[in-house]
Amino acid sequence: MTLLAIETSCDETSAAVIREGEILSNIVSSQTAIHAEYGGVVPELATREHLRNLIPVIQAALRKANVDPPMLDAVAATRGPGLPSALLVGLKAGQALAFSLRKPVIGIHHHEAHLYSPWISGDPPRGHFAGFEPSVSLIVSGGHTLLVAVTEMFNHRVLGGTLDDAAGECFDKTGKLMGLAYPAGPEIDRLAAAGNPRTHNFPRPMLNEPGEDFSFAGLKTSVRYFLQKNPGLLEDPRHVRDLCASVQAAIVEVLVAKTVRAARRLGVQCVTASGGVACNTALRRDLEGACKESGLRLRLADGQFSTDNAAMIGILAEQKLLAGAGEIAFDAEIEPSWAL
Ligand code: KG4
Ligand code: ZN
Repeated sequence: MTLLAIETSCDETSAAVIREGEILSNIVSSQTAIHAEYGGVVPELATREHLRNLIPVIQAALRKANVDPPMLDAVAATRGPGLPSALLVGLKAGQALAFSLRKPVIGIHHHEAHLYSPWISGDPPRGHFAGFEPSVSLIVSGGHTLLVAVTEMFNHRVLGGTLDDAAGECFDKTGKLMGLAYPAGPEIDRLAAAGNPRTHNFPRPMLNEPGEDFSFAGLKTSVRYFLQKNPGLLEDPRHVRDLCASVQAAIVEVLVAKTVRAARRLGVQCVTASGGVACNTALRRDLEGACKESGLRLRLADGQFSTDNAAMIGILAEQKLLAGAGEIAFDAEIEPSWAL
C-alpha cells in the first residue's frame, strides 16, 4: 500500500509518502521563523503559509518518493486537534486529492499519531510497531501534556493532562520572559547544558499530588516574579544559563516522576515519550535514568518524529487502514478540539 500523508495542525507544513511501513519521504516546512517575531503562533499567518507551501511540499514528498498521484492507494491528513484554519488547509487538500483519485481518505488524530510515534524505529526507520507492548505514554508538545495508558494497539485511555499550560508552553513562555525567541524550548535546552540546575529552586507543581494531572502556569508565574525581583540578572549570560537549567530541571522532574509513577501504578513494563518536548536532552536523559532504576523499558520517539511531521500521520493511517479503521467522508469536517 502506498499512502500520502499531510500534517498542517499548527506551524509545520508537512507531507510524507509511506509504503508498507517504510517512510519513502517526509518533508517538513517549518514556519517558526515567521512566528518568532510575534512570540507565538499567529493563526492567520500559519494558515497563509500552509496555503502557500502545501502544494510544493506535497510535490516534493511525491518526487522524493518517486511516486505519481495515480500510484497512491490512500490519502491521510490530520483532522484535529489544532488550529481550525490550519487544519482546514491540510484536510481539505487531502480530501480533494483522494476524491479526484477515487481513493479512501483517512482522518488522523494528531495526538494519536504522537502517541504511536515512538514505535517508528530502525535504520532506515519503519512503522511496523515491532516489539509493541502495553505502556504508559507521555505526550509533551507546545499545546498538550498528556499521560496515556496504552493497553493494546488503538486502545488507550488518557490518565491525566495539564490543567493550564502545556510543558512546551512553559518552556516557550518562560523563555519569552528571558528574552529568548519563540519557540524557546530548544534554546533553553541548549543554554541549560552549560548551566547549574540547582541554582534556583523553582516550584515542582503537583509533583507530590496523587493522580496524573499537571500544572505549569504557577512555575511560569514564579519565574516572572523572580525576574521582577532580579532585574539585572539577564545581562549576565552565566546567570541566564543557570536560570534556563533551573527552569528546565523543574519541568523535567515533574514530567519524569509522574510518568514513572503512573507506569508503576498500572504495572506496565514500558514507558514511551513523544511530542516536541521529547527532544529535550535533560528529559531524555532523566527518563532513561528513572526507567532504568525502576526496571522499565523506555522507547523515546526519534527526534525527527518528535516535532510535528507527516510521517507519523502516515504510519498511523496505514496501520488504521489495515485494521479497517480511520476512513472518513470526502466532506468530513475538521475536529479542532478532538479529545484523545
Ligand atoms: O510537537 P510540536 O512540534 O508541536 C505541537 O504539536 O505543539 O512541539 C513544539 C514544542 C514547542 O513548545 C517547543 O518549544 C518544544 O516543543 N520543544 C522543546 C525542544 N524542542 C522542541 N522543548 C524543550 N527542549 C527541546 N529541545
Ligand atoms: Zn504535535
